[in-house]
Amino acid sequence: MDVIEAGPAYAAVLARLHAVAFPESPWDERSFTALLAQPGMLCLLDERGGFLLLRAVLDEAELLTIGVTTPRQGIGGSLLRQALRAAAWRGVQTIHLEVAVDNTAARALYASLGFAQTGIRKAYYPDGGDALTLRLHLEG
Ligand SMILES: CC(C)(COP(=O)(O)OP(=O)(O)OC[C@H]1O[C@@H](n2cnc3c(N)ncnc32)[C@H](O)[C@@H]1OP(=O)(O)O)[C@@H](O)C(=O)NCCC(=O)NCCS
Repeated sequence: MDVIEAGPAYAAVLARLHAVAFPESPWDERSFTALLAQPGMLCLLDERGGFLLLRAVLDEAELLTIGVTTPRQGIGGSLLRQALRAAAWRGVQTIHLEVAVDNTAARALYASLGFAQTGIRKAYYPDGGDALTLRLHLEG
């Protein structure tokens, strides 16, 4: 299994993968190009069909997106664990993210890695759904 750290050259690939993982709200190539040019961005790409973007600022980071093309193969968990290790190595102490209340798979993944709820954002998504805010403190 190969995971690479992807830069702007992978924007088109990422857009294709994102459209599979998030068919109702795909991000286009231009969005990925702009995101990947931002400072503090970490993008991991799994050749099995998975991606993750995390943006670090000083000792805090935000998980911007994570998705896989074939669920329940261990790809998402593996990507997130690698990102947490990379973030800790860069000096990040706290990771934040948002997840839809009804996203059972993602919530289970985050809970399995120790993320805890810090709040709820009512009607956060365009479809009117609520978002939970989660946080994980990294050790060491
Ligand atoms: C969320 C997502 C990235 C998980 O990736 P994945 O590769 O399927 O997850 P993994 O196979 O690595 O599973 C890791 C753990 O997450 C949990 N999990 C993942 N999918 C689950 C599901 N459908 N139901 C319950 N638990 C689930 C389990 O604890 C699992 O561990 P286990 O297999 O030992 O039980 C994937 O479902 C996805 O791409 N969803 C669409 C995009 C999305 O919603 N992204 C998150 C936005 S916040």
